[in-house]
Amino acid sequence: MRDPTSFFKKEYQSLVENKLDWSPRMLQGPSEPKTMVDGREVIVLCSNNYLGLTTHPKIKEAAIEAIKKYGVGSGAVRSISGTMDLHVELEKRLARFKRAESSLTYPTGFMVNSGLIPQIAEKDDLIISDELNHGSIIDGTRLSRAEKIVYKHNNVEDLQRVLEEAEKHEPAYRRILIVTDGVFSMDGDISPIKEISKLAANHGATLYVDDAHGEGVLGEGGRGIVSHFKLTHREVHIEMGTFSKAYGTIGGHISGSLDLIRFAWNKSRTWLLSSSQPPPVVAATIAAIDVLENEPEHVKKLWKNTEYFKKSVQDLGFDTGMSQTPIIPIIVGDNEKAKSFGEELYKEGIFVVPIVYPMVSKDKARIRIQMNSKLSLKDLDRVISILEKVGKKLDIIQKN
Ligand SMILES: Cc1ncc(COP(=O)(O)O)c(C=O)c1O
Repeated sequence: MRDPTSFFKKEYQSLVENKLDWSPRMLQGPSEPKTMVDGREVIVLCSNNYLGLTTHPKIKEAAIEAIKKYGVGSGAVRSISGTMDLHVELEKRLARFKRAESSLTYPTGFMVNSGLIPQIAEKDDLIISDELNHGSIIDGTRLSRAEKIVYKHNNVEDLQRVLEEAEKHEPAYRRILIVTDGVFSMDGDISPIKEISKLAANHGATLYVDDAHGEGVLGEGGRGIVSHFKLTHREVHIEMGTFSKAYGTIGGHISGSLDLIRFAWNKSRTWLLSSSQPPPVVAATIAAIDVLENEPEHVKKLWKNTEYFKKSVQDLGFDTGMSQTPIIPIIVGDNEKAKSFGEELYKEGIFVVPIVYPMVSKDKARIRIQMNSKLSLKDLDRVISILEKVGKKLDIIQKN
């Protein structure tokens, strides 16, 4: 007889046996670079809050004022009665910031990728995706009825090969969608979207860039990867992002042409059928754009910290892989070593998470550092000396 629930336990146990289960640590205070985690005061180096905006006074104040005026919820999906003047204002402000004709916000970034990709590429279409793209892109691609081809990570020649092969397909694909992360979340490397955009143009392909980790980090004033490469939305047709990282709030978004935005809001089910962002979040996000426009010091400090830290750990002999951004992996190889590294660092007051197989390949287990603009050089020196001590203890770097 079939048992409708026993698999919950069995599958969970199998995850535990294979050491693949998650039991996250608990923050007992705000998401700040220094906070309480599981009863210990720690420096947090595993947060997407790159610019410390989660607790910026002006952003908090905007959320409080919005609660007083609008309450805590929007009451509906955007397509019914969940579009408030605040949502419209945020979209206008975002479009101006991104130098786009128009922008659209969603409840989360995951919902952009899972709700829009399957609508852009359907039956008779082709999706070409970087092999290290984020899980939300993979899920969006799976939900599509298009054919799918994965190209080698950041490899423009391989993408060209795939496009040339695709041209031979009979009947010709109706649409070709190229999707890539802008900044890759496990390695901190940047997609060569200038070259990719040229290939896309040559083949009439639509280019979709997920800039979750590039916004607030790359480009003029943190405008993101399109600005970083001095491109426009004529070359990158869909600039996707999320407010859940450097902006310090939550919510997904796209920027591009007005035609794209009208298409997206009428077609993506995650926009049409999921309730809109609560007013305090929307107001806080507008305030976060104000901060990015008026306080350039946060982005500058993030890069200053990143460069200082990366050079120091490389000088100690740590392998930081392909990092070009404030995402700095410290690759140790073996899963167990990465886990011990994370554990020892936590005991010394540094909170990072080990990233292990199957999230990365078996020989590339690591801890991943995400830099924060609010840390002082003194804080970083403390982190660096602890990394040195633990790295030597675990034979990750040489003792002398
Ligand atoms: C590259 C990338 N895309 C999309 C997302 C999803 O964004 P959100 O947290 O807004 O759902 C993330 C977040 O982890 C991400 O790293």
